[in-house]
Amino acid sequence: MAKNELGPMPVHVGVIMDGNGRWAKKRGLPRKFGHREGAKTFRKIVRHAKAIGIKYITFYAFSTENWKRPDDEVQSIMKLFEKYLDELDDFLKEHVRIRFIGDRSMLTETLQAKMKRSEELSKDYDLMTLILAINYGGRDEITNAVKLIAEDVKAGNIEPSEIDENLIQSRLYTAEIPDVDLIIRPSGEQRLSNFLIWQSAYAEYYFTDILWPDFSKKDLEKAVEVYRDRHRRFGGV
Ligand code: IPE
Ligand code: IPE
Ligand code: MG
Repeated sequence: MAKNELGPMPVHVGVIMDGNGRWAKKRGLPRKFGHREGAKTFRKIVRHAKAIGIKYITFYAFSTENWKRPDDEVQSIMKLFEKYLDELDDFLKEHVRIRFIGDRSMLTETLQAKMKRSEELSKDYDLMTLILAINYGGRDEITNAVKLIAEDVKAGNIEPSEIDENLIQSRLYTAEIPDVDLIIRPSGEQRLSNFLIWQSAYAEYYFTDILWPDFSKKDLEKAVEVYRDRHRRFGGV
């Protein structure tokens, strides 16, 4: 890449929506207010991502480890998801394709039905794909893929020697979604916390101390600009 020349846009951006609790605490409010404010930021950033030409964006909304939180916090987050999902209809009007990744079996029937509905109604849209990671864990995803492949081997559909990276990829929740190029984590933490661990093998990272509810359109633009200024080598020279 020549000096002063920016590289291509990231095709797939991942966002770890972190810092809601601290945002609320700083204001002397219960944590659930931070989650509510974070949901507003989510809607704003989805729209802006689409406006600046991002094709795939995945938001980490609830991890397989987040069930460890106090019951009332988990319940308020789940209630918020139901609201989020009703509001996703606005994105349908904007021709955004909606997908969910994670283990749905632990979610309520209502939530599962709403998820299915959004996916079905939006399956043919292609302006942008919005992916929500709910009860998602990278290790859980890989474990699930291994189980599916083991069943295929047991049934005699696949020989163990045929197992390759493409086959594993095709059994992940993200099958058919390109690898993530850029992962943004606000809140000051610098870790993946079990997010897209297979898909991020060659991702670039952008960390900022801003708490998720305060994350702005400008912050998204900044992350993309920093990404475009980097030189990805994928092991080459
Ligand atoms: C992220 O914000 C939201 C979820 C994990 C559901 P946090 O709730 O983790 O906020 P902090 O990290 O405690 O500030
Ligand atoms: C990661 O945030 C999960 C989501 C944002 C959904 P956490 O707040 O759960 O991560 P840790 O506990 O700080 O690693
Ligand atoms: Mg956190």
